[in-house]
Amino acid sequence: MSGIIELKNVSYRYPVGDEKVLKDIHLSIEKGSFTAIVGNNGSGKTTLCNTLRGFIPHFYKGELDGEVMIDGKSMLDYQLGQLGEKIGYVFQNPFIQISGVKETVFDEVAYGLENLGVAVEDIRTRVEEVLTLVKITHLRGKNPNELSGGQRQRVALAAIIVMDPELLVIDEPTSQLDPIGTEHVFDIIRLMKERGKTILLVEHKMDLIAEYADRVIVLHEGEVVLNGPVREVFGNPDYAKYGIQYPHVTEVALQLQKEGVPLNFVPIRNEELADSIARKKEGVPHG
Ligand SMILES: Nc1ncnc2c1ncn2[C@@H]1O[C@H](COP(=O)(O)OP(=O)(O)O)[C@@H](O)[C@H]1O
Ligand SMILES: [Mg+2]
Repeated sequence: MSGIIELKNVSYRYPVGDEKVLKDIHLSIEKGSFTAIVGNNGSGKTTLCNTLRGFIPHFYKGELDGEVMIDGKSMLDYQLGQLGEKIGYVFQNPFIQISGVKETVFDEVAYGLENLGVAVEDIRTRVEEVLTLVKITHLRGKNPNELSGGQRQRVALAAIIVMDPELLVIDEPTSQLDPIGTEHVFDIIRLMKERGKTILLVEHKMDLIAEYADRVIVLHEGEVVLNGPVREVFGNPDYAKYGIQYPHVTEVALQLQKEGVPLNFVPIRNEELADSIARKKEGVPHG
């Protein structure tokens, strides 16, 4: 079965760059899955997101090779607008996302639905529902331009969720948020997954990835170097090569292992630590 997103031999060079920023990428993303994309700064995460969203090649020119298929159809056969309805894209920089033409958070979140010609009464219901979900009802009447970075990130997320896209591509949505705000964004993402959405998330907070994501893709200098279930990727000895953070508990356990403590398995969630270093042999937990 083919995935909702399929990339074959995808390489990309920006118009002004002389090096390829994506190199021979093969990916298959299953419908309804939650995939985290990790990698160091400059490894190509945002560029990959731009490719999945069709900004490359529809908006950014440059040199794109290979094949990008969304839902069985080539990226080249979509209009950018059609893609916009299918794929909700939350930018890394929440300041870009705010339209700048709406004077309240309510209107900002309603903007996309207005453009689709949704009936006013339905717009009101849907916007209120999403404001509640994202916990920003108290910001309803505020000017989007006067919000903090964290508040803008939530408004940007709300403005995308309200459109009810099938696929969500979310680029570092928690960079401006405190731990509580971050947990909350993950709650929302989990809820979206429960609603059957396919989710791609660029994120550095590995503890939360370990807890919620199904799969992890590791990008390194434009190449997909690891791609698999969360547990396999964080437990893969190669992961250490790329200088990317581990989940905290994984880091601790691997340090203990280095100091001679044998591990039954590599833990990725806090509650697994005790079992992972228990003396008796135990199986790898599932999930
Ligand atoms: N618009 C652009 N034009 C030219 N080069 C770019 C552009 N955007 C990003 N790059 C380059 O592409 C590489 C990957 O960047 P990016 O995808 O933003 O990485 P990440 O999101 O992982 O930090 C970097 O070397 C960056 O300098
Ligand atoms: Mg980026």
